[in-house]
Amino acid sequence: MNWDDTAPSTAEETADVPADRLVAADADGEENAVEAALRPKDLDEFVGQERVREQLDLVLKAARARGATADHVLLSGAPGLGKTTLSMIIAAEMGAPIRITSGPAIQHAGDLAAILSSLQEGEVLFLDEIHRMSRPAEEMLYMAMEDFRVDVIVGKGPGATAIPLELPPFTLVGATTRAGLLPPPLRDRFGFTGHMEFYAPVELERVIRRSAGLLDVEIEPEGAAEIAGRSRGTPRIANRLLRRVRDYAQVKADGVITREVAAQALGVYEVDARGLDRLDRAVLTALLKLFGGGPVGLSTLAVAVGEERETVEEVAEPFLVREGLLARTPRGRIATPAAWAHLGLVPPQQAGGSGQRGLFEA
Ligand SMILES: Nc1ncnc2c1ncn2[C@@H]1O[C@H](COP(=O)(O)OP(=O)(O)OP(=O)(O)O)[C@@H](O)[C@H]1O
Ligand SMILES: [Mg+2]
Repeated sequence: MNWDDTAPSTAEETADVPADRLVAADADGEENAVEAALRPKDLDEFVGQERVREQLDLVLKAARARGATADHVLLSGAPGLGKTTLSMIIAAEMGAPIRITSGPAIQHAGDLAAILSSLQEGEVLFLDEIHRMSRPAEEMLYMAMEDFRVDVIVGKGPGATAIPLELPPFTLVGATTRAGLLPPPLRDRFGFTGHMEFYAPVELERVIRRSAGLLDVEIEPEGAAEIAGRSRGTPRIANRLLRRVRDYAQVKADGVITREVAAQALGVYEVDARGLDRLDRAVLTALLKLFGGGPVGLSTLAVAVGEERETVEEVAEPFLVREGLLARTPRGRIATPAAWAHLGLVPPQQAGGSGQRGLFEA
């Protein structure tokens, strides 16, 4: 049998993340294990995201009451907000097994057919980074989601035949950081779409206190608040900073995380009071000191900080933009007045010439 299709696998544009990044670096094996241990196991343990949680709770309860398989669920939102965690919770709440794969791992439609045809009834198929699936696999998925059926193509060229294959009912949980990149036909086939928001500091405090309990670390409420304020609205970052602060507390203090210990530790790791790390500050500093606050092109800015264009664009900028420190304009990147204030610098307004003042005074 020939599972092959002729579609070339699309080139992956993965941002080159420097290994020394504390808050956004890809976790290594041990960190992955800790992360898994800290995952909430059911909806009640899952902090925040009230709306998504309530809606999902209804979807799952109703499906359970009908004795049916839950509708397909799409989860979108920035990295580290809990999409993978929630997919595992969906399976747990449905008492169903979960199969985990990702868009980039499915090179050919045949890869997907193999996975789909081996699913058990009611199983949850978690498809991470669903926006990075190949086109033929995506088209196969349309039919599988809607009719629980796939056409397996056997042979090549004019002699190729499509053999229909029935699938057991299953629940697809798709996750994406880029919902906008999903083709509408795919988006429309999900019965429920949950968009994950960034977390409020009080919610992150709860995440941190819960994780500290699991890690058996003593933490004062002010210590949790200090870490939460620097965690960029993201539980994964909150948990990672907590582990670094714990290290510091063990080595330099008596193991208890107070506000002072947290602040000192995060100072050592170059995470500032607003959650900016070394790369974020390097980008801002270059923008202010070398280019007078801009506008400057992305490539120039990237060269100035010695990073890849994608790293600056995808790792540093989203947070800087969200914090209102940097703006992307058609003419290039510009710093906002808040950026000058954050780095304690004075904008060279009187020198004039850049014309950017007008942008903020209008
Ligand atoms: N609502 C939450 N309550 C408590 N902890 C959470 C919550 N959301 C996420 N976490 C923690 O944050 C970590 C990262 O979450 P998760 O892996 O689910 O994010 P993700 O959205 O799948 O990220 P990515 O887009 O990078 O795959 C997990 O280890 C989990 O412990
Ligand atoms: Mg994930």
